[in-house]
Amino acid sequence: MEKLQFWVNDALHEVAGVSTNLTLLNYLRYHADLPGTKEGCAEGDCGACSVVLLDKDGDEGAYRAVNSCLLFLPAVHGRRIYTVEGLAKNGELHPVQEAMVRNLGSQCGYCTPGFVMTLFEACYRDDMDGPWQLDDQLCGNLCRCTGYRPIRAAGKEVSGLRPKDHFHEALSAESFETSEVQYSEKEQRFWRPNSFESLFALLAEQPQAKIIAGATDLALEYTKFHRALPLLVSIEGLQELKVLSCDNKGWTIGAGVTLSRLEMAVANRLPALENMLRYFASRQIKNRATVGGNIVNASPIGDLAPVFLALDARFHLRSAQGTREVSSDEFFLDYRKTALQEGEIFEAVFIPHKDAYANSYKVSKRKEMDISAVAAGLALCRDADGKITEARFGFGGMAATPKRADGAEKALLGRKLTAGTIRASLAALESDFAPMTDHRGTSWYRQKVAKNFLLGFFEEAMKNEAAQTIRAGALAHPEVRV
Ligand SMILES: Cc1cc2nc3c(=O)[nH]c(=O)nc-3n(C[C@H](O)[C@H](O)[C@H](O)COP(=O)(O)OP(=O)(O)OC[C@H]3O[C@@H](n4cnc5c(N)ncnc54)[C@H](O)[C@@H]3O)c2cc1C
Ligand code: FES
Ligand code: FES
Repeated sequence: MEKLQFWVNDALHEVAGVSTNLTLLNYLRYHADLPGTKEGCAEGDCGACSVVLLDKDGDEGAYRAVNSCLLFLPAVHGRRIYTVEGLAKNGELHPVQEAMVRNLGSQCGYCTPGFVMTLFEACYRDDMDGPWQLDDQLCGNLCRCTGYRPIRAAGKEVSGLRPKDHFHEALSAESFETSEVQYSEKEQRFWRPNSFESLFALLAEQPQAKIIAGATDLALEYTKFHRALPLLVSIEGLQELKVLSCDNKGWTIGAGVTLSRLEMAVANRLPALENMLRYFASRQIKNRATVGGNIVNASPIGDLAPVFLALDARFHLRSAQGTREVSSDEFFLDYRKTALQEGEIFEAVFIPHKDAYANSYKVSKRKEMDISAVAAGLALCRDADGKITEARFGFGGMAATPKRADGAEKALLGRKLTAGTIRASLAALESDFAPMTDHRGTSWYRQKVAKNFLLGFFEEAMKNEAAQTIRAGALAHPEVRV
């Protein structure tokens, strides 16, 4: 393939001769003469570079705000992108822009294009009714001078507005494509196969190639550490990795499912996962970041792993030889070392239904858009007498890998939750981990936070004698495919 093709503000762009590591942000600013989109941090933290990508939500189109600083250009082949330059039509501002002007939402204006594009997504969403949605939508955008009150006020006016305009029509028109890509520039290659067969053939041929999903982590290698990524194999073209379903056995979540899609699907159905996703990165990151990318990263402070450990998740790993299943307990071997073998990819997560009380907790230096100091996914199964039959306490930030608190769990087995057993479990937790001290927290602080998580969880579980079940959603909606 000689040229990449995609649409920016409905105009076809055909591009050749550019590096496979060129970011969409730098393309827009320096190749396409569209400098409205700004660079602040080049690492997904400030939102100044936000643009909107036409994506798919079920059979419908959906606008998704994304950080263009973390998107490599070949990943947008076949896609439609909208930037701040494309919103006003026939001399009239878009309702989002009007609301920003009316509410005095801009001073120096550097952050404004990013806020406008993030609110553009909110404008066409139909699930912005909850009290926290707007905060979640905006937490990935920083403003140094206006202050957030006027921007929030503009956001409130336009969230869920869904004007019946040109953009509304474009949602149902077409164009969500993750077709095959084989793009090269000099020694650099970017492949996007659309079958497992071609993926595994490629990985066998190019064992040094890097798998890329949402790139919210991988792109930092290039944008922050200036290390080129010459051989990239995108898994975005594999529809099989996007499966997200719930039947009477449990949830199956494909590795390629984005975190915002997952968050919407588990809302009111799998609280432990839903609660963690609420405080996970920003809307823009969640619109690109995938479940597989988060788990394979194997960061000791990754937020999904503790929840999956608590929910007894099984991981499906796929290679040319087929699929094998590994329990989440066995997947994390050492610091950033996993059970994945060469030529193998992360395919899916399976979460079995269990009658359990489960919840998740995260402490970071600020509430939103921050990496955990400590995170936990905690689950308890009890029999009819209230005796604990299974305890699964997954922690992040407490060891070199996401890890269960074996001692704290064992102290409870076969017993009821009482002041005495709770004390015993909390005491055992002290020997389960020897966390490190770093800029996110001292060892003492991490131990204290972990204990408080557990204590709070026990209190909740005791109040919840009826054992809220993580199964409830599935029972209410058997065989639901989302
Ligand atoms: C601003 C910002 C905030 C963040 N906040 C959080 C947070 O709050 N909590 C948190 O846990 N993380 C956070 N992250 C980290 C990161 O975004 C997530 O871990 C994300 O889920 C990674 O997914 P991805 O699809 O973008 O992975 P990529 O960047 O595409 O890939 C990450 C790694 O996984 C490999 N990989 C990806 N998919 C597969 C697969 N299916 N099979 C085999 N290998 C694969 C890639 O080769 C690469 O090594 C944040 C990142 C940023 C930039
Ligand atoms: S430039 Fe800051 S998020 Fe992209
Ligand atoms: S208006 Fe200046 S940074 Fe927001």
